[in-house]
Amino acid sequence: MIVLIGPMGAGKTTVGALLAEQLGVTVRDTDQDVEAAEGRPISEIFVDSGEDAFRDLEREAVATALATHDGVLSVGGGAVLDPTTRELLAGHDVVFLRVGLSDAVKRVGLGSARPLLLGNVRSRIKALLDERTPVYESVATVVVDTDGRSPAEVTAEVVAAL
Ligand code: S3P
Repeated sequence: MIVLIGPMGAGKTTVGALLAEQLGVTVRDTDQDVEAAEGRPISEIFVDSGEDAFRDLEREAVATALATHDGVLSVGGGAVLDPTTRELLAGHDVVFLRVGLSDAVKRVGLGSARPLLLGNVRSRIKALLDERTPVYESVATVVVDTDGRSPAEVTAEVVAAL
């Protein structure tokens, strides 16, 4: 499996779709899998059940996708914070789509409805980047910089790096 990791605003969903198309495989997305399994949006899962419950669902979605799918898998920005998820990813091609603060804010948009960005989007993203970048780097087998690059350019670089 080619697994795309990185923070919100890295372009995982867009690049995942382009990458799958180019490689002639299909793409799965754990955010979509969790929402489909639960029948409710992630924002509602966070509000009603809390982040820990979401992380449990996300871990299950990663495990199921790795066991049943072959191709490209895009995982939610916080998935690799879970140690079990990190273990599950061992042995796969794990691509970290790296993004700096200003490009991440631009891509996510200041009015993002994502639960972890409520309040000041820029300062929330900065805190997430500071906390998580070392984790993404430690899990990744490939790192691709996305700042100032189009999804097509990023995809081409991922293909070249694999
Ligand atoms: C999260 C990222 C989101 C989604 C949830 C939590 C995070 O996915 O899983 O809102 O902790 O960074 P994307 O990275 O696909 O936006």
